Amino acid sequence: MISIVGCNKGGASKTTTATNISVGLALAGHDVCLVDADPQRTAAKWFAEREAAGIESKLTLIEKRDNIASTLRSLNDKYEHVVVDVAGRNSRELITGASVADLILAPHQCSQFDLDTLGELQEQVVKIRDLNENLKVFVYHSMASTNANVKDKERAEFMAYLAEFPEFQVLDSIGYYRKIYKDVGAEGRSVLEAGKNPAADEIRALLNEVYNRA
Ligand SMILES: Nc1ncnc2c1ncn2[C@@H]1O[C@H](COP(=O)(O)OP(=O)(O)OP(=O)(O)O)[C@@H](O)[C@H]1O
Ligand SMILES: [Mg+2]
Repeated sequence: MISIVGCNKGGASKTTTATNISVGLALAGHDVCLVDADPQRTAAKWFAEREAAGIESKLTLIEKRDNIASTLRSLNDKYEHVVVDVAGRNSRELITGASVADLILAPHQCSQFDLDTLGELQEQVVKIRDLNENLKVFVYHSMASTNANVKDKERAEFMAYLAEFPEFQVLDSIGYYRKIYKDVGAEGRSVLEAGKNPAADEIRALLNEVYNRA
């Protein structure tokens, strides 16, 4: 199965989501290939930290740029899961990757700057579905506030905005803003490898929702 973690906005939590779900799928016993398709190489640097720390898992990383479609197809024959981390913009990697993918997992913060890029994603998805009609698109509310005073209001705003985009399935799972994502990411780890913590629970919920529905 090929999953593209992508959207047209920088800093939306794509690499953090891609690395965490890749580890989660590997911990569940799957052979996973994480493809870093972003010239910034953040996932590749994360994986290098992981290797330097001697963390062993059923997870491999490769780097590929430009037209990634045929590479993804071959990797899909070899691995149970191919997870692709792309740049935060309208990139050739997002388009060519999505043309052969099963799903796009699109993290967006509840900020006007992030939500303003949904129209562009919608246009891309309409075109890509001409070539890949079964492509699913899951929008993931990322870096949500844990502040009890704003949490519900923020979620309601997010859902109201997404209601204008029937092409996308909005996930019930939410990724909250939690320092542990930064801390473990810098060490090449996932929140799933950091003992019991609320971020690990939300990544498990995301995995259940996406991979049981997909
Ligand atoms: N849920 C979260 N809670 C706290 N910090 C987060 C969370 N998700 C991501 N971050 C932090 O926010 C920053 C941007 O995240 P990340 O690199 O995953 O985004 P991105 O969408 O891949 O960005 P880019 O478009 O530059 O590739 C990083 O410093 C990361 O550690
Ligand atoms: Mg990134």
